[in-house]
Amino acid sequence: MAGSALGPARSLLAALLAPALVALLVSPARGRGGLDHGDWDVDRRLPPLPPRDDAARVARFVTHVSDWGSLATISTLEEVRGRSFADVISLSDGPPGAGIGVPYMYLSPMQQLVSDLQENPQATLTLSLAQTVFCRKHGFDPQSPLCVHIMLSGTVTKVNEKEADYAKNSLFLRHPEMKTWPSSHNWFFAKLNITNIWVLDYFGGPKVVTPEEYFNVTLQ
Ligand SMILES: *[C@@H]1O[C@H](CO)[C@@H](O)[C@H](O)[C@H]1NC(C)=O
Ligand SMILES: *[C@@H]1O[C@H](CO)[C@@H](O)[C@H](O)[C@H]1NC(C)=O
Repeated sequence: MAGSALGPARSLLAALLAPALVALLVSPARGRGGLDHGDWDVDRRLPPLPPRDDAARVARFVTHVSDWGSLATISTLEEVRGRSFADVISLSDGPPGAGIGVPYMYLSPMQQLVSDLQENPQATLTLSLAQTVFCRKHGFDPQSPLCVHIMLSGTVTKVNEKEADYAKNSLFLRHPEMKTWPSSHNWFFAKLNITNIWVLDYFGGPKVVTPEEYFNVTLQ
């Protein structure tokens, strides 16, 4: 009895689902042969995490898949002058699948952090896989080292004209909205000149990676 009742229900379900399946199958091929931007979250196609004991490679991976981070500067705001002060900053180290490890940013003198950097260019950038599907998928809390995060310290510098092309291309690919940001804000391209790297990718405290080791990694 149950069987005969379910029979038509099943085919009805199949009929309802079929167009949805077809729609899924014919939807624009995302991530064709690689890492089109957006797939990391939308399609859960985050490339596999490198082995956790290869901290330099893990650091490059985190930098590359991060679209944004938290940049801490020494504040020049009257109320908190001299204290650390972090803001969210959009980033890119290159086109998806081809990052070079340098975090590029698009900044405006109207930003508080730029006023801070003019007085003291030293800054620390924190990046976490909590912004990707990685930690959610595995159920890792953002504070857990298993939810890999890294700290990059250095100085923020304006990039020269030659490098600006690369920075612009890298940033605008991942942050298309930047193209429309008001030119009256005098946006310019900058980067973090990395001097120190800490990697939290497992229990036992952060691992220290040198910039030489970090930039030596090839991600492909
Ligand atoms: C980056 O930092 C290194 C080490 O502190 C320094 O030698 C180099 O001049 C810096 N580069 C820029 C562009 O500021
Ligand atoms: C750079 O990479 C090569 C090849 O992976 C490795 O043999 C070498 O030890 C690395 N050098 C540094 C400074 O990490």
